[in-house]
Amino acid sequence: MAGPNKKRALVRAAADARHRAVAPYSRFNVGAALLTRSGEIITGANVESASYGLTCCAERVALFKALTEGKKDFVAIAVVARAPGGPMPCGACRQLLAEYAPQAAIWVADSRALGVIRQFMVPALLPGAFLAVPADSD
Ligand code: THU
Repeated sequence: MAGPNKKRALVRAAADARHRAVAPYSRFNVGAALLTRSGEIITGANVESASYGLTCCAERVALFKALTEGKKDFVAIAVVARAPGGPMPCGACRQLLAEYAPQAAIWVADSRALGVIRQFMVPALLPGAFLAVPADSD
């Protein structure tokens, strides 16, 4: 499991990625950083659209980047925004994390207090996740 230095580094990477958010509508800038078992870090930030519903969260941008670069075996994801206690991943991101990063620790931090890191595990944030269409469905 990642030690305290890796945890701090991942939160720092998410904080840096947050500055690349494209969020002109909400002005809520979020950064995310995934850590692979081999120690690689893949970052993302939220991207919003004038058609608001097309917005993609930082977590999913990071996850989609990583997956389409052939990265897997995620051990953690850090998420940073200016939010008390750090931003909690939305339901859609929890679903994607349950599918593609089920073992990952989720570390959240307020951009104003990066040293205060709260940890959550994916199954606790999305109990009973839907993971596959049953084989006998019609
Ligand atoms: N957002 C994220 O990127 N991650 C979260 O965990 C919560 C919400 C984004 C989506 C939208 O661009 C903005 O924050 C406001 O909801």
